[in-house]
Amino acid sequence: MTETVAPSRTAMIEMIKVCKKFPPNVVALDDISVSIASGEIFFLIGRSGAGKTTLLKLLCNMERPSNGLIEVAGMNIHQVTGNKLAKLRQKVGVAYQDFRLLTDRTVAENIAISMEVSYKKPQIIRNRVRSLLAQLQLEDKHDILTGDLSRGEQQRVALARAVANSPALILVDEPTGNLDATSTEQVMELLIRCSNSGATIVIATHDEALYRHSTHRIMKLHNGKLASLTRGDGQERLKSMEAMNGGSSDGI
Ligand SMILES: Nc1ncnc2c1ncn2[C@@H]1O[C@H](COP(=O)(O)OP(=O)(O)O)[C@@H](O)[C@H]1O
Ligand SMILES: [Mg+2]
Repeated sequence: MTETVAPSRTAMIEMIKVCKKFPPNVVALDDISVSIASGEIFFLIGRSGAGKTTLLKLLCNMERPSNGLIEVAGMNIHQVTGNKLAKLRQKVGVAYQDFRLLTDRTVAENIAISMEVSYKKPQIIRNRVRSLLAQLQLEDKHDILTGDLSRGEQQRVALARAVANSPALILVDEPTGNLDATSTEQVMELLIRCSNSGATIVIATHDEALYRHSTHRIMKLHNGKLASLTRGDGQERLKSMEAMNGGSSDGI
């Protein structure tokens, strides 16, 4: 099949003519329409203030749109209530730009939270926590209070917490802002592994190194408007990482 900018698989996210205004007169998002396929890795870029965080907050129901429609996994997320809403919440993992860790709890406790909420067995939780810490080279931080970690370590714990329960949709906001090149690679490898297991991933970033050489779609926002929807140039770096992690080479 020839490549098009539109995804061909079932949509995980549908945004139709979405606007978000903040009082008194900030237009954070203006008329955004986009469809993100199930299993896609999707980059959201643009300068500080472009609207990236606002878009992610709409997708995880932390903010409501002023206008327009947002569907996640086929549900209008701003209309579902009760049990359905609880179920939808469990499908979405978020790594916030400001981390939002429980700083008086340990690394392991923070990562375990989403799995405990969905009643995973203690043994499964323990194994998953250790595996994630190993993948992010944080094994020795298991019992440390997150308030005592460096920002780069906190950032990786926030990511581990977001992906721990294997959510269908993972939203990550500037996941590498405080990281060196090696940790950045580990974070991207972890996200690619999640994608290979079927997760849809939306990554807000202004770190060009993350997306420039990928094969994934890149949506650029400028002053809340959709400035462009393109793909990375598909050259070496991320491709080799995906191959390393057993990813398919046919892209999205
Ligand atoms: N709660 C809020 N109240 C008022 N203005 C806001 C609020 N949240 C975001 N904004 C504004 O919306 C615009 C987009 O912000 P944001 O989504 O955080 O951008 P980005 O993540 O791309 O840096 C900015 O002008 C910001 O100041
Ligand atoms: Mg932001």
